[in-house]
Amino acid sequence: MTQALAARGIRHVAGVLLDVGMSSPQLEEPARGFSFMRDGPLDMRMDTTRGETAAEWLDRADEKEIREVIFRYGEERFAKQIAAAIVAARPVGTTRQLAEIVGRAVRTREPGQHPATRTFQALRIHVNQELEELEMTLPQAAALLEPGGRLAVVSFHSLEDRVVKSFIRARSTADTFPKGVPVRAADLPTPQLRAVGKAIRASDDEVRRNPRARSAVLRVAEKN
Ligand SMILES: C[S@@+](CC[C@H](N)C(=O)[O-])C[C@H]1O[C@@H](n2cnc3c(N)ncnc32)[C@H](O)[C@@H]1O
Repeated sequence: MTQALAARGIRHVAGVLLDVGMSSPQLEEPARGFSFMRDGPLDMRMDTTRGETAAEWLDRADEKEIREVIFRYGEERFAKQIAAAIVAARPVGTTRQLAEIVGRAVRTREPGQHPATRTFQALRIHVNQELEELEMTLPQAAALLEPGGRLAVVSFHSLEDRVVKSFIRARSTADTFPKGVPVRAADLPTPQLRAVGKAIRASDDEVRRNPRARSAVLRVAEKN
């Protein structure tokens, strides 16, 4: 975003809003391969002009890599069984094939949740390097803000929110000095950001109107 704005002669902005993750149109279009509810090619790339599809990665990655991605990005406790099942069934080319493989590998189901939810989330995050992108984006957004400017981030699962939360906390905490080093409060460097309020979640009414908002978290920080 820094280059994109610089190309427009913009060096500072009054606000940055990030609505991260996947969009509904992406989820609903079978050809994008994001959904275990719709059969389509196992693609999952947010930018289809570059990078490896989920099917291509699953075809070349070793079982350990697949297990680690599913466990780390899906927080899936059956990651070991799922990775073994995927390797045994390769090549896996479609979303339905993957959903069925995962469905057979998952021993106990979480109420109200499709057994493939966590695996699909994990592969999507991996294929799109979503957490790495977020970690690269947040410092840029903070640097682009003018004093008093605000950063607002809407995230949709705990892994994203954790990245946002720890970034805001780190940038809104004054540097600490070794114990016993006499520093006058006035000389303490002002932190770059100030967290504005607590995390904001969707109201019951909003979740009724839009169930996809149930896991959404909005965090806001202001540039000092
Ligand atoms: C949650 S959706 C945004 C939905 C939109 N705000 C709306 O209300 O319709 C997130 C969008 O960000 C895009 N995206 C994901 N990673 C991105 C990145 N690194 N840079 C730019 N866009 C990205 C996705 O392709 C997706 O369309």
